[in-house]
Amino acid sequence: MKKLYFGSNLKMYKNIRETMDYLTKLQELTTDLDRDEITLFIIPSYTSLDRASWQIDQNQIRLGAQNMCWEERGQFTGEISPLMLQELGLQIVELGHSERRHVFGETDEMMEKKVKAALSHGFTALLCIGETGEEKDFGLSDEVLRKQLKVGFFGLKPEDAKNLWVAYEPVWAIGVNGKPATVEYAQEKHHVIKETLKELFGEAGRQIPVLYGGSVNPGNANGLIVQPDIDGLFVGRSAWDAGKFDELIRDAIKTYKDSL
Ligand code: 13P
Repeated sequence: MKKLYFGSNLKMYKNIRETMDYLTKLQELTTDLDRDEITLFIIPSYTSLDRASWQIDQNQIRLGAQNMCWEERGQFTGEISPLMLQELGLQIVELGHSERRHVFGETDEMMEKKVKAALSHGFTALLCIGETGEEKDFGLSDEVLRKQLKVGFFGLKPEDAKNLWVAYEPVWAIGVNGKPATVEYAQEKHHVIKETLKELFGEAGRQIPVLYGGSVNPGNANGLIVQPDIDGLFVGRSAWDAGKFDELIRDAIKTYKDSL
């Protein structure tokens, strides 16, 4: 049985109080779910992270940051250092989310530096990749995904694989204007990603979980989770109500177990 990953990026929505209400409720609701079978993680705003890291049991809900600078200190106004995130006892750093790449101009070359900084500071690096609608229409999706992985993970060793996660989030599938990828399309791209990870890390590449994100909802989550190359779901809007996320997770676990 594969381990299942369920996580949410809260983007720039919930304030500190809302985040704490959400996390506390999600922790209570999911407390009976076996953490040997699933990994649950939430990536809140920077301002909520301090309180969340004190009040939330990270054996239950792992916490992560939405971004991180590759330098420890210096003239980087508005950035957050790996040392600052280390102080919070976080486990995960999300890097290269589509909104970082496409709204704020982050590049694959920056990802290479950020991934290395995340690993050298003891974090799990969650690298987000995905093609734009235009790249998809030109038939370039596989090349784009392979490039994002090969540059983002450039120079890493097989022993680094245990601290890497990948989220495949097609840009055209994300957010209020997004159209979810079909289950077949998502599985096909996950297969390309898994093969590329094997090429980069050898057998160790197989241990890197690859999560699908982009308009995951109660209607498509079960179809996605049973795909052979999909290890988990990285959810935005459909996860931001703790009760609804708990239901989505339970349904997906049941569907996956029934499929075995
Ligand atoms: P949505 O599920 O709202 O499309 O967001 C996905 C996402 O960006 C997760 O990082």
